[in-house]
Amino acid sequence: MKPSFVTAIAALLLIAAQHASIVAAGKGPRVIIVGAGMSGISAGKRLWDAGVRDLLILEATDRVGGRMHKHNFGGLNVEIGANWVEGLNGDKTNPIWPMVNSTLKLRNFYSDFDGVVANVYKESGGLYDEEFVQKRMDRADEVEELGGKFAAKLDPSGRDDISILAMQRLFNHQPNGPTTPVDMALDYYKYDYEFAEPPRVTSLQGTEPTATFADFGDDANFVADQRGFETIIYHIAGQYLRSDKSGNIIDPRVKLNKVVRQISYNDKGVVVTTEDNSAYSADYVMVSTSLGVLQSDLIQFKPQLPAWKIMAIYRFDMAVYTKIFLKFPKKFWPTCCW
Ligand SMILES: Cc1cc2nc3c(=O)[nH]c(=O)nc-3n(C[C@H](O)[C@H](O)[C@H](O)COP(=O)(O)OP(=O)(O)OC[C@H]3O[C@@H](n4cnc5c(N)ncnc54)[C@H](O)[C@@H]3O)c2cc1C
Ligand SMILES: *[C@@H]1O[C@H](CO)[C@@H](O)[C@H](O)[C@H]1NC(C)=O
Repeated sequence: MKPSFVTAIAALLLIAAQHASIVAAGKGPRVIIVGAGMSGISAGKRLWDAGVRDLLILEATDRVGGRMHKHNFGGLNVEIGANWVEGLNGDKTNPIWPMVNSTLKLRNFYSDFDGVVANVYKESGGLYDEEFVQKRMDRADEVEELGGKFAAKLDPSGRDDISILAMQRLFNHQPNGPTTPVDMALDYYKYDYEFAEPPRVTSLQGTEPTATFADFGDDANFVADQRGFETIIYHIAGQYLRSDKSGNIIDPRVKLNKVVRQISYNDKGVVVTTEDNSAYSADYVMVSTSLGVLQSDLIQFKPQLPAWKIMAIYRFDMAVYTKIFLKFPKKFWPTCCW
């Protein structure tokens, strides 16, 4: 089991010119993609596979990869963004998995989160009784499942959405939040740790069930490869964008250091303007920036987006997930099976 990152939800926004007539006969549409992270690079690949050749990717930073990003720390590359392939060992195969495990052979490890119940420590030292913790976990799991079933019955528009905490209250589970240390630890593990925010603000409908686990299985494998998890983005990019021998994208269709500030659109097409006052016109634009960017005023849409899009953008909270890495001089923790 575990962790899911709803920060992971890609906000992919498509503004289409209304009339098909803008597509000149015999010539494909021109499409601008804002953002060169996993979703922008993957969207480009899908368009490429569908025969769209006239692509331009505008990326604000000086690199391709976005929130998949390795960083050298204490002599090792660690992942400051995405780290796990989430959603494994279910009925359907997670499309990321064959790329990670077979094509690129990124070094990865099964994360055994079932070990949590045997590893809850008392403030005064020593472990809590495993059987006792398991009972509390079973109850929390049961409530989570009830919550998932309840969420499935809510209006799909999100109109009736409630928080995880409200759902727990509904099922008479820790109505004032967790009160004992064990329940606090388990609640933190099940929700805060997954969603980078407390259950009080976490959307029930947006997280229960979390699509990647529902679709592909409950397991997660940790990627610990010195090439970085981002290799997967370079791999996808390499299938339609020119790259050099060391895998760097050198294609003129990817422009780095281009912070998009304005998107004007009408029925004839779009004009995308960047911070350095360059203007790019196209038939369509796909915006692959995070919800956090969309919820800020970094990109101005002209005219303003329709209400239903604005509502969708603000319905989900953008969490901040900070990872802290510590390097110890030696391995002092117990290991058993690997
Ligand atoms: C700390 C952390 C841990 C995570 N752990 C996991 C995990 O273990 N497993 C997992 O599956 N997922 C994990 N995620 C989520 C995963 O990293 C993201 O879902 C995924 O990388 C998002 O890709 P994206 O292309 O949608 O967005 P991004 O990667 O954010 O790409 C958007 C791109 O748009 C660019 N951009 C933004 N604004 C502009 C602008 N105005 N103009 C031009 N370009 C712009 C950005 O610079 C960025 O490159 C984690 C995320 C974080 C932050
Ligand atoms: C992942 O790759 C390893 C090494 O090639 C292989 O032994 C293993 O069976 C693969 N795992 C899955 C689930 O495909």
